[in-house]
Amino acid sequence: MGRLAPHKQRLLLLCVIATVFGERPRMSFTDRDTTMVRRRLPQTPVRVLTEGEDAVTAVGPTHISRIHFRCLQELSNCVEHPVELPVEWGECAEQTRACIYNITIIHKRTEANQIFACGINGRDIACCNMDISEHSVKCTPSETVNNINKRMRDFIIKEGEASIFVESPDGAGLYITYSGPQGSVGIHKFGKHIVRPAYSDKEQHYIKLIVSKQGNINDVPQDKIYGFYNEKNQDAGMDSDMWKVFVTQICLNDTGGPKMYLQFTWTSQFNARLFCGDKRQKQHFSELLDVVTVEAEQWQDTRVYGLFKNKWGMRAVCVYTIQDIDRVFKTSPFKDSDPDSQLDRPRMCVADSTKLHIETLKQIEADSEMEECIEPVNGSGPLLISHHHYTHITAHNFTDNHTVLFIALNNGTVHKVMHKQTGGGEISFVVAEYRPFNHRAHVDSLDLHPSTRRLYVSSGTELVQLDVANCQGYGDSCEECVLARDPFCGWSEDRCAKDGSLQDTEHGNLAICPTSALKAYQHQVPGFTAEVSDDAVEQILIPLGSRYFFECPVTYLHAHYTWYHDNSPVPCGGAERRCLLLIPCMEPEQAGTYTCVSEEEGYSRVRAQYRLDVEDGAESFSPGSLLWLTIITALLVQS
Ligand SMILES: *[C@@H]1O[C@H](CO)[C@@H](O)[C@H](O)[C@H]1NC(C)=O
Ligand SMILES: *[C@@H]1O[C@H](CO)[C@@H](O)[C@H](O)[C@H]1NC(C)=O
Ligand SMILES: *[C@@H]1O[C@H](CO)[C@@H](O)[C@H](O)[C@H]1NC(C)=O
Ligand SMILES: *[C@@H]1O[C@H](CO)[C@@H](O)[C@H](O)[C@H]1NC(C)=O
Ligand SMILES: *[C@@H]1O[C@H](CO)[C@@H](O)[C@H](O)[C@H]1NC(C)=O
Ligand SMILES: *[C@@H]1O[C@H](CO)[C@@H](O)[C@H](O)[C@H]1NC(C)=O
Repeated sequence: MGRLAPHKQRLLLLCVIATVFGERPRMSFTDRDTTMVRRRLPQTPVRVLTEGEDAVTAVGPTHISRIHFRCLQELSNCVEHPVELPVEWGECAEQTRACIYNITIIHKRTEANQIFACGINGRDIACCNMDISEHSVKCTPSETVNNINKRMRDFIIKEGEASIFVESPDGAGLYITYSGPQGSVGIHKFGKHIVRPAYSDKEQHYIKLIVSKQGNINDVPQDKIYGFYNEKNQDAGMDSDMWKVFVTQICLNDTGGPKMYLQFTWTSQFNARLFCGDKRQKQHFSELLDVVTVEAEQWQDTRVYGLFKNKWGMRAVCVYTIQDIDRVFKTSPFKDSDPDSQLDRPRMCVADSTKLHIETLKQIEADSEMEECIEPVNGSGPLLISHHHYTHITAHNFTDNHTVLFIALNNGTVHKVMHKQTGGGEISFVVAEYRPFNHRAHVDSLDLHPSTRRLYVSSGTELVQLDVANCQGYGDSCEECVLARDPFCGWSEDRCAKDGSLQDTEHGNLAICPTSALKAYQHQVPGFTAEVSDDAVEQILIPLGSRYFFECPVTYLHAHYTWYHDNSPVPCGGAERRCLLLIPCMEPEQAGTYTCVSEEEGYSRVRAQYRLDVEDGAESFSPGSLLWLTIITALLVQS
């Protein structure tokens, strides 16, 4: 910093303050502010399926548990304790030890209540289709699953790998990743065919696989799988990053090369760097933590949200479109090749990869990395940069332009973030934080049930259902509802309501509120004048020389709170998120009216008001003075 001119230093400081402020949630909700139902989990599930209205299914590792969140009297099967069902694998007649598999892979199938699951028992892998709505869960025989089972015999499923199950008229395929320092790292397909990655000398760690249905071109299906992974940076100098983030694509139609060349090995695999950062500020995020997609009607518009980290532990969220990813794979030159020799390399998915030309296969083997990198949509840079230690992300879109993201912190807190795409750019706002657990916890999974707007957060030992459309929590005025900028909520007649009509997520513009409402609470700040009617204000009598304090509830974390003694401002005391007014020793001139006013984006409102008077007569007991010491001590310790 020493080399910067003073005005630049000030600018830098301003920027830092702006980002820190921007990432701070506007409100904080605990179980006092919104409905949270907590259930203990009998075992740490591999996946939580939230299709039902009030019951969810936790799958794995050995059992399937049904967990109820709303217990109606007439439902006799509704219990607070989950119902645990064992899974009957294959020909096992009884649940002997040999028949207990640890479930590691779970995918929903297209039909309701049907899942595809794979389990491990020692070195043995078994996959099967099952109906989880039935009372006893068992494998339903299927030829495609038999194929997968046969082909997976020598494969090792590692913990935490990404996978995807794709069903098509030609049968189904399981795509699963294998991460590690080298060797057959990459995407493996098991189905009618087996297809695997070429040998690699790079260390890769896979985060997520997604499927993109891209229709046909000249009757050849163009459907693809995209894989997202971190690759160890091989030229790791002191200043360089440990990781590089990549996207890889493969065609679903790829069955590998002909017998003599790249047999059962991907011929359609290309890789490209995924960039998240701001090039002008020379800032970038080099490690991917989580990925989530928001599907669109047109495959090109489907968006991919990535949660990234840099080497200082800062987090960022960047958003990409499948169209941009696809464009790089179709048009970018290859990284290490002579551009002229590569121009005619096929970029489309082909009908039969075993008929590819030997020259083409040689090019594929030699170079598959793109020169161009994939950048965030519209050159937007990160949507959000934060020092909070985010670990997981989930996203849903409600109207054309809005996405609501839920991002978990490493201590169990969850942030709700609004993202809006506008002509002018990408806008995001940290609407609120929720605290689903009443202790520190590690979030295992986050899942929103879109129609009920309930978020399910699992910590491995507990599953919490929380209502994230708790609009009344924002306040009882139109302005407070609009300042919330929550796409789930809007002002409707007399309250902040789910799907209410008045809302401006883009700017939080208060002018859209009816003017009468605005006037009623509008005060001039500073130079605030409180209209005090004597009987409305609580009067407090305290003896001369004693101590006292007032607390103003700090609900809005972006607002500025000030106490006024009659008309003169007195700044808040106490730790962060507190606003106290301390009277260390009562004197006659300290009598008067004390008013706490919050101010946010030009909207001011009285949050607390008291009248303090000297109590006549001898020393009398004042509860305030007794409490004072303890509270001040507690506050000092806290701050
Ligand atoms: C399942 O996983 C647990 C914990 O990792 C392990 O102790 C157990 O041996 C596994 N069981 C089987 C059948 O693989
Ligand atoms: C690839 O596409 C062709 C149609 O062009 C189809 O006949 C064939 O079954 C597909 N192969 C796979 C493995 O899906
Ligand atoms: C979001 O939702 C709308 C319909 O509500 C849909 O038309 C659109 O394609 C969705 N996806 C994206 C990425 O906008
Ligand atoms: C989405 O944004 C466009 C322009 O930014 C606007 O015309 C349209 O009304 C918006 N749609 C919704 C559902 O808010
Ligand atoms: C990209 O930005 C331009 C103008 O800045 C806008 O017209 C366009 O809608 C944006 N595209 C997306 C996908 O947001
Ligand atoms: C988690 O961390 C955030 C940010 O540091 C903090 O606001 C929140 O209170 C913490 N939550 C818990 C449960 O400790």
